[in-house]
Amino acid sequence: MLIGYGMCASFCTVGESLKQMRALREMGHDILPILSQNLLSTDTRFARAEDVVSEIIHITGKDNIIRDIRSAEPLGPAVILDALIVAPCTGNTLAKVACGMSDTPVTMAIKAHLRCDRPFVIALASNDALSQNLKNIATLLTRKNTYFVPMKQDDPVRKPHSLVADFSRLTETLTLAMQGRDNRPLFLT
Ligand SMILES: Cc1cc2nc3c(=O)[nH]c(=O)nc-3n(C[C@H](O)[C@H](O)[C@H](O)COP(=O)(O)O)c2cc1C
Repeated sequence: MLIGYGMCASFCTVGESLKQMRALREMGHDILPILSQNLLSTDTRFARAEDVVSEIIHITGKDNIIRDIRSAEPLGPAVILDALIVAPCTGNTLAKVACGMSDTPVTMAIKAHLRCDRPFVIALASNDALSQNLKNIATLLTRKNTYFVPMKQDDPVRKPHSLVADFSRLTETLTLAMQGRDNRPLFLT
């Protein structure tokens, strides 16, 4: 399968996501990476941006990363993906998608991909998932062809509004999504 793999600027979860990208490659899938401009341009205490890009090229075996809106636009009409994953998906990108916005490579890829009525899998990581972004989770839960990786409250005491996907459930969520099924329970303890 050809899988689009969007990644947003939730820097602390990028390592977990890359493990799943490796797992998908080991399963024999082709991966087309799509990176948000914030992920592409920001060095943090978690990683340097250029090291993340190098690792993605190493995993996928190709330097075909989508880095701008113009390159993301053909992903629906011209380049048909079997599925699109966004892992990690930030609160920012989740909110934009819920509102129908497409002003980044990742949100443009989502808009283009959903034209084809094929699965879109979200692995959310956001400190405001249970506050400002809760309504956007609700919106996307009822949107056609959209599936969430099960998630949990990673630190209910110090980060009471935070939810983070269990990235180890990403591949099974994709398999279920390809069958039109949700991965449940959605909220893990
Ligand atoms: C060190 C650091 C860590 C961050 N971690 C997260 C995160 O885990 N989840 C999140 O939603 N936003 C996080 N952000 C904020 C996003 O990077 C910011 O909202 C950005 O605009 C997201 O852009 P994107 O969705 O286009 O990738 C973090 C920012 C910084 C600087």
